[in-house]
Amino acid sequence: MKPSVLITRKLSDSILNRIRESCEVIVWENEDTPIPRKLLESKIPEVDGLLCLITESIDKELLDKAKNLKIISNMAVGYNNIDVEAATDKGIMVTNTPDVLTETTADLTFALLMATARRLVEASDYLRDGKWQTWSPMLLTGQDVYGATIGIIGMGRIGEAVAKRAKGFNMNILYHNRNRKSDVEQELEAHFVDFNTLLQQSDFVVVMTPYSAETRNLITAEHFKLMKKNAILINSARGGIVNENDLYEALVNNEIWAAGLDVFEEEPVPTDHPLLTLNNVVTLPHIGSASYNTRMKMADLAATNLLMGVNGEKPLNLVNS
Ligand code: DGY
Repeated sequence: MKPSVLITRKLSDSILNRIRESCEVIVWENEDTPIPRKLLESKIPEVDGLLCLITESIDKELLDKAKNLKIISNMAVGYNNIDVEAATDKGIMVTNTPDVLTETTADLTFALLMATARRLVEASDYLRDGKWQTWSPMLLTGQDVYGATIGIIGMGRIGEAVAKRAKGFNMNILYHNRNRKSDVEQELEAHFVDFNTLLQQSDFVVVMTPYSAETRNLITAEHFKLMKKNAILINSARGGIVNENDLYEALVNNEIWAAGLDVFEEEPVPTDHPLLTLNNVVTLPHIGSASYNTRMKMADLAATNLLMGVNGEKPLNLVNS
């Protein structure tokens, strides 16, 4: 009998057909809305494998209902939507999709940094709203990127890819990480500094660390007070790492200059969220890895991990080995 798998979102036909060759597939046939929780709960007892997205909370309550589940294949590098400890206790493998999205996410992070520094969204709106009267010496002036100091919090794969881009812009690179990266220090002339020094000296503070109990609210009011008045905060990692209320206060009190956010504590962020009222905040709907090629590669890798898991092989990207 073929193993049975649940796929929580419509993926491309080529990928679904590859999975169908060796599995009975249940798929939530909708591209733009997450699978309803009740449906997920009703299907989980019968499947051997689950391919899910960051929009699904794979918590202990759900896992308690899983009777045959061998693998949870998350189509993302981050897996804070999964209770990995509960899965491990039940002998369920958890996988993610690292590497394939590194450069695309670094591109978006750098694009967000530049858009925020040079006020691109505000400038585009200014023109379209018919406000452009003349070239003017100080009109829509922003902050320089070239030659500025960037402080990267979390020097993992994506952090390193951002640092490579920063080097191309002749930036002074500071980083803070659990452990020092001598290869990055040599190759990119990056300097390891303590957390507070990074906040005090950086023109751009870029959050690249994974979300966990330790990094929740990593940046709060006291940290904004340490930052430069011209500092720009960029977050393309996870919303809960930066305290949004404190960020709002820091921006309205001119403690920092601007913020670029691809991620929010609650997603989709409510459209009446205070941060969305500020001109000096550039906001994006969590599109870090959203290039066509990369999303196809992520889905393909998630499918490979799923198939390996249900067929009793060790998947490529096991996070709870
Ligand atoms: C990830 O992979 O963790 C992103 O946040 C979604 O692309």
